[in-house]
Amino acid sequence: SKSIAVFASGTGSNFQALVEAFAQPDSGVVIKALVCDHALAPVVGKAALAGVPIITVDYREFVDKAAAEAAIVSQLPEVDLIVLAGYMRILGPTLLAAYPQRIINLHPALLPSFPGRTGIEDAWRYGVQITGVTVHFVDAGIDSGQIIAQEAVRVEPGMSVDDLARRIHAVEHQLLPATVQRLIQGGKI
Ligand code: GAR
Repeated sequence: SKSIAVFASGTGSNFQALVEAFAQPDSGVVIKALVCDHALAPVVGKAALAGVPIITVDYREFVDKAAAEAAIVSQLPEVDLIVLAGYMRILGPTLLAAYPQRIINLHPALLPSFPGRTGIEDAWRYGVQITGVTVHFVDAGIDSGQIIAQEAVRVEPGMSVDDLARRIHAVEHQLLPATVQRLIQGGKI
């Protein structure tokens, strides 16, 4: 079976979706670690409950991003794939070079539209009638890199931004585990 590490910064609902999708030993995917940049984030509690080893890295304790990323690389067990699921940092060359073509990211909009931290709100405010969810390989840019999977979400008339966020998250919780599974089964990883 293949192993993954999940990077997350906050709530961790997508981390939880991955845990549940790959809970059965015959799923073919083992989550070997959670990497989190905030020790008090709810995702840390979710990992503890799930029995997933936790690596917390407080970037403020390091001189720069490269040093923080070197600390992550040195603590990470060997994994086949890194999954960014709500990891609110731009990766630098240290992590990118350590896992070439082995890092994917989840984004709550149809890239290349609405990159950044507030993709759901930005799409809603713009008034688009179709937005969605993207999973893509990570490169040095902000939410750039080759697209692996997308799913559209229609913004119905009268939908509040909270309604839209709920729809987006429900789609994410399906699409991210399915995409990890497909990459691994397709031999891409
Ligand atoms: C998700 O909606 C993810 O797409 C988004 O953060 C959320 C994390 O939620 N990521 C980005 O905006 C990256 N630019 P979660 O912690 O409940 O999984």
